[in-house]
Amino acid sequence: MSTAVEQSDSQADDCTEDQAVLAGYVAQFPNPSALKKAASQVRDAGFKEFDCYVPFPVHGIDEAMGIKMTRLPYIVLACAAMGATTAIALQFFTNAFDYKYIISGKPFFSLPANIPITFELAVLFSAFGALLGMLALNNLPKFYNRLFLIDPFLKATSNGFFIAIEAKDPKFHETDTKEFLNSLQPSEVIACLEPNQNVKIPKALLPLAVCIMILGLVPLVIVARMRVTPSTTPRIELVHDMDYQPKLKTQRFSKMFADGRGMRPLIAGTVARGDLRHDTAFYEGLLPDQADEVDRSFLLPNAKKPDGTSVSLETLPWVTQIPLPVDEKLMARGQERYNIYCSLCHGLSGKGDGIITQRAMQLQAANPGVGTWLLPIALYSEPVRKQKVGQLFNTITHGVRKMPSYAAQIPVEDRWAIVLYLRALQESGSGNINDVPAEIREQLNAEPKP
Ligand code: HEC
Repeated sequence: MSTAVEQSDSQADDCTEDQAVLAGYVAQFPNPSALKKAASQVRDAGFKEFDCYVPFPVHGIDEAMGIKMTRLPYIVLACAAMGATTAIALQFFTNAFDYKYIISGKPFFSLPANIPITFELAVLFSAFGALLGMLALNNLPKFYNRLFLIDPFLKATSNGFFIAIEAKDPKFHETDTKEFLNSLQPSEVIACLEPNQNVKIPKALLPLAVCIMILGLVPLVIVARMRVTPSTTPRIELVHDMDYQPKLKTQRFSKMFADGRGMRPLIAGTVARGDLRHDTAFYEGLLPDQADEVDRSFLLPNAKKPDGTSVSLETLPWVTQIPLPVDEKLMARGQERYNIYCSLCHGLSGKGDGIITQRAMQLQAANPGVGTWLLPIALYSEPVRKQKVGQLFNTITHGVRKMPSYAAQIPVEDRWAIVLYLRALQESGSGNINDVPAEIREQLNAEPKP
């Protein structure tokens, strides 16, 4: 044992300089079990500022050293809660407070719709919390460890097992602690001496560092300035080939063709396969003999004539007859499709009191100034009754003013079926008791079945 101490003293001399300060003691142990036993004794002696250094994980060392479970999970949980709260607050602020917008009568704020972003931010914040919390709890990054001044300590990465007690521990004593470590039967105890470095930073260094930092900003300022300054000189192309590839792009210039366009215009009269819609009555609701004169852009919602005036749709040459055999089957189909696609806004009776309309009007009433919803006109009202079937068909195909197009959802034949059902709704919506066949008038007065 005494040899070990002498050895350690000579070792200590190695890293000693003038007025070196004692920074702690390092004890080396021959194997993991000896280290573990010693660690528990150091713990029982009440030392707090000590650590074990081993080349591989040693089972049970945490308990031997008295290390408690990490607080990292709590940090991660707190960060996740913070992320979720931030996400909810952000979505609430933007959607339900700062920029309210009525979309199909949907509530401004609803938790289920906001879950994806809430989840993402919770995960993001907790990932940051886990990484930064781990670094903070481990006191990392650490640029310097005085234990590296001791040569034998380098064995901690191959076959050395060490316990280091630091001088800053309140229980540390220059001689007592050394004796205590020796009593744990180590192979050696080394005093870790730190050179008393009273190194002063040269005075010129600070202004120099400031100058370098300012100079480092200059390129950024130049780039920022360039981005907002118009210039006649072409910009510097670092990778020319990538910027100008020998290929044609849509909507771009090309030297290949005389007219300079990269995109070829359609040859007049070209029809894509399966797109020949020569039957204008069926596909557009326009009279075949006058359809050629109609500017098709007039069919779109809010269309304007070249002179800037609105197009009056009523004047277009609409068909007056449904271009399909009208029978009970078509009527039933129309009712079914109407109830699916139109009733949610226009109501089952066509009055304009569908569920979406009702909720949107409620939202609008409760939030003055958020007026973004328009009450649809009753489908049995006079202006709609007067419209020809072709125009009703066009309303479904292209939409009208605020109403969107339903061409993508509803095939042509079904659109005609709905138009037929609209006519039925208009009859029932504006009829009187004389329109009801005499034999079933009685039933109308009967008590409605519950
Ligand atoms: C998202 C709600 C909504 C749906 C669904 C909807 N509409 Fe409309 N519709 C409107 C609104 C709003 C107007 C009033 C537009 C305006 O005046 O700006 C309107 C107007 C109309 C008009 C009157 C057009 C005119 O010239 O005044 C007709 C006819 C009509 N819709 C038919 C239909 C049919 C048929 C369907 C089903 C295929 C349908 N709508 C589905 C909202 C809807």
